Amino acid sequence: MIKKCLFPAAGYGTRFLPATKAMPKEMLPILNKPLIQYGVEEAYDAGCDVMAIITGRGKRAITDHFDISYELEHQIKGTSKEAMLNDIRKLIDECTFTYTRQNEMKGLGDAILKGRVLVGESDPFAVVLADDLCINPDGEGVLRQMINIHNKFRCSIVAIMEVPDEEVHKYGIISGREIEDGVYMVEDMVEKPDNDKAPSNLAIIGRYILTADIFEIIENTKPGKNGEVQITDALLTQAKRGMVLAYKFKGKRFDCGSVEGFVEATNYFYNNILKKCK
Ligand code: G1P
Repeated sequence: MIKKCLFPAAGYGTRFLPATKAMPKEMLPILNKPLIQYGVEEAYDAGCDVMAIITGRGKRAITDHFDISYELEHQIKGTSKEAMLNDIRKLIDECTFTYTRQNEMKGLGDAILKGRVLVGESDPFAVVLADDLCINPDGEGVLRQMINIHNKFRCSIVAIMEVPDEEVHKYGIISGREIEDGVYMVEDMVEKPDNDKAPSNLAIIGRYILTADIFEIIENTKPGKNGEVQITDALLTQAKRGMVLAYKFKGKRFDCGSVEGFVEATNYFYNNILKKCK
């Protein structure tokens, strides 16, 4: 059973400056809900109840968001506004939120390694990059789909999608053999390759299931692309030692780390979710 989910959330969010000068990028809202809450809800719906967040300087708003605000709740008690806090209150009541800081920006691999103290050394765990907002209007959420596959194969899993050739340089790219519908046995994995050097156009998006031996592998992984410790490199080592799967998820993913993707998600949620609820 996967109960713990790690949220690397220490990045600066420079693509959203000046909005992210004093506010964590994970708190940017799609409609009225911050990005990180969408990620926490996806993890909760997948069966996780420990949310382990890797923060950094200037990220206090995240900690406050996942805590009770007594004054506010007292103020709106008995009014029509009260219901607007129902979803977040449920998460606060039913999940444990734990935090540690990544003091230096040394890459996603390093951020995940910092999470070792929060998720422990023995159980597999999930990782959600809140910038990647995923939904599946037709069924189970992306993390739940991945946990189902993990329960069958018991190894690390990355979520993938096909991207246009000119966009491969923005992602970790995998290549492998399809062993069942949409499930690939990873043979190669490259972090942000040049467009003409990519092994395929199957791009990793911000959803991972990792087995705990990944920590020892990350510790022994040298800095790679951009001088940072890359989870992609550690996963390639793990694939060579044993097995890593890549899963072409069912659903939609919005790249909310870019202004274009953020606007696309906003329009989608407004037209397809909010309007239908009214
Ligand atoms: C990270 C990973 C990359 C992955 C991407 C998904 O990159 O390093 O392999 O494809 O997330 O969003 P980042 O976008 O943080 O630079």
